[in-house]
Amino acid sequence: MNKPNLELKAEANNYPSLQLSNRHLCDLELVMNGGFDPLTGFMSRGDYDSVVSDMRLSNGSLWPVPITLDVNDKFVSEISTNPKIALRDKEGFILAILKVEDIWKPNLLFEAKSVFGTSDIKHPGVNYLLNISNKNYIGGKIEKISTPYHHDYGDIRHTPGELKSIFKKNKWSKVIAFQTRNPLHKAHFELTRKAMKEFNAKLLIHPVVGATKPGDVNHFTRTRCYKHIMKEYPKNSAFLSLLPLAMRMGGPKETLLHAKIRKNYGCTHLIVGRDHAGPGLDSNNEPFYGPYEAQDMLKTYQDELEIEMVPFKFMVYTPKSNTFKALDDVDQDEEYKTLSGTELRQLLEKGKGIPEWFTFKSVANELERSNPPLEKRGLTIFFTGLSGSGKSTLANGLVTRFLEQGSRPVTLLDGDIVRTNLSSELGFSKEHRSINIKRIGYVASEITKNGGIAICAPIAPYEKDRKINRKLISKEGAYIEIFVNTPLEKCEERDSKGLYALAREGKIKEFTGISDPYQEPIDAEIVINSSGENPEVLVKKIYEKIVSMGFIEEDK
Ligand code: PPS
Repeated sequence: MNKPNLELKAEANNYPSLQLSNRHLCDLELVMNGGFDPLTGFMSRGDYDSVVSDMRLSNGSLWPVPITLDVNDKFVSEISTNPKIALRDKEGFILAILKVEDIWKPNLLFEAKSVFGTSDIKHPGVNYLLNISNKNYIGGKIEKISTPYHHDYGDIRHTPGELKSIFKKNKWSKVIAFQTRNPLHKAHFELTRKAMKEFNAKLLIHPVVGATKPGDVNHFTRTRCYKHIMKEYPKNSAFLSLLPLAMRMGGPKETLLHAKIRKNYGCTHLIVGRDHAGPGLDSNNEPFYGPYEAQDMLKTYQDELEIEMVPFKFMVYTPKSNTFKALDDVDQDEEYKTLSGTELRQLLEKGKGIPEWFTFKSVANELERSNPPLEKRGLTIFFTGLSGSGKSTLANGLVTRFLEQGSRPVTLLDGDIVRTNLSSELGFSKEHRSINIKRIGYVASEITKNGGIAICAPIAPYEKDRKINRKLISKEGAYIEIFVNTPLEKCEERDSKGLYALAREGKIKEFTGISDPYQEPIDAEIVINSSGENPEVLVKKIYEKIVSMGFIEEDK
């Protein structure tokens, strides 16, 4: 761990504190370690305006995307009389002092259109600006106290200074950087080998381990894969180092940023392939950027950035010659193979092996281990419906069915169980119900993350809370919502707990369906009406549906 500047740290204790987000932390680290040289802080208003409109800092030097510190109104009102603020990580460690130069309300829509060329929120960079970012920016220089501490992979993280001295010590005068946010496969291996040979250069595998595109393979799995592939390169020809960059998925402009950073890290070349730093498809299913727009952009600016681009076309496998070639170089009648990210995900979901032509066995093993087939992944089944709709009966029946099947541990989070054990202090106000549902969602997401089955059965009357849970849990595994759509009249007729009668008499306030709304789900995977059929039949139907969705292995 680096030694903190204790004097500055004591001084920082007197200033208002800002807890940084993951993205801020990445940006701060690259400002402090020189990866973002010549930036010395978060952009002031002058630099920001100039970068947004002209891709240049106010001193004229090329800088493609804004590096900004966004904060909320409350924080702005707290610091209005303070010239300095203390920047802290999530655990409260003070990392830096920011000398406030400017506080302003940026036009985030204008920024999105200028920097990313679109206002479509399917673009992760745009989505950040329009839906996640706070509405104020603070600009100013940074005084470093300590660089962010990483519990993971400390031995393969380097500052630009450290990498440069490693290159110097090894007499590596030409170093080609390979930027990536994905596991590396044989095509990448071949193209990096080709580049090294052509330029008589060494290779830096420089994967991004800050924020990447939502849905990407996590950096732990990726790093295990990188470590395997490093063994395939000839000795002393390639080096692995992790880069704490928060990607914006900004395509061509982000490519310039990648080049600038790699220059700062001592590289002489940067490999740029097809759709570099591309965010995928827009709302009309069209690519946001052209496949070689990023290459064209870097071609224009590479001299100014003092780093040479190594362009690569889309590589495909040709079985006849057992090699990878640029698609443009494949003869018209020659057979070739490719595997898209989606196809790879599907192979893993179905538990089919990854073909050997595509990746090294060691990498395939890692990917298969961390992406087991659907029937072995964590799963949440979330029942929602009125009180008395039959949720608990169905949930209990399903728990038993899963226990009989025995593939994963099962946890029942029924409404009453949760209210006794997790949420005993909560009532039924809107606020308390939301807290209750979010607690269930959090516990279910942890169970799902760790490969178990969580069966939840609260009323969960509000769409907003269910949506939040769906998003949270889907990141960790599968999420299936089951709407138990038993009509209110039927629930009231059953009134097994006698609560509807009390609610009608006004003795229970805010009762769902009577004096508090139930918002019917619009995107439930399964809809059940429990008024007609007996529970065993319904449980069987639900179970069979889950089997047909691939989440449970069929009984043999
Ligand atoms: S919520 O809205 O999802 O937080 O509700 P939940 O935790 O599932 O509610 C569990 C049981 O509380 C009983 N109960 C009420 N329900 C609705 N509204 C009010 N005001 C209320 N007061 C008590 C009700 O019986 C719920 O149980 P179930 O199993 O759904 O019948």
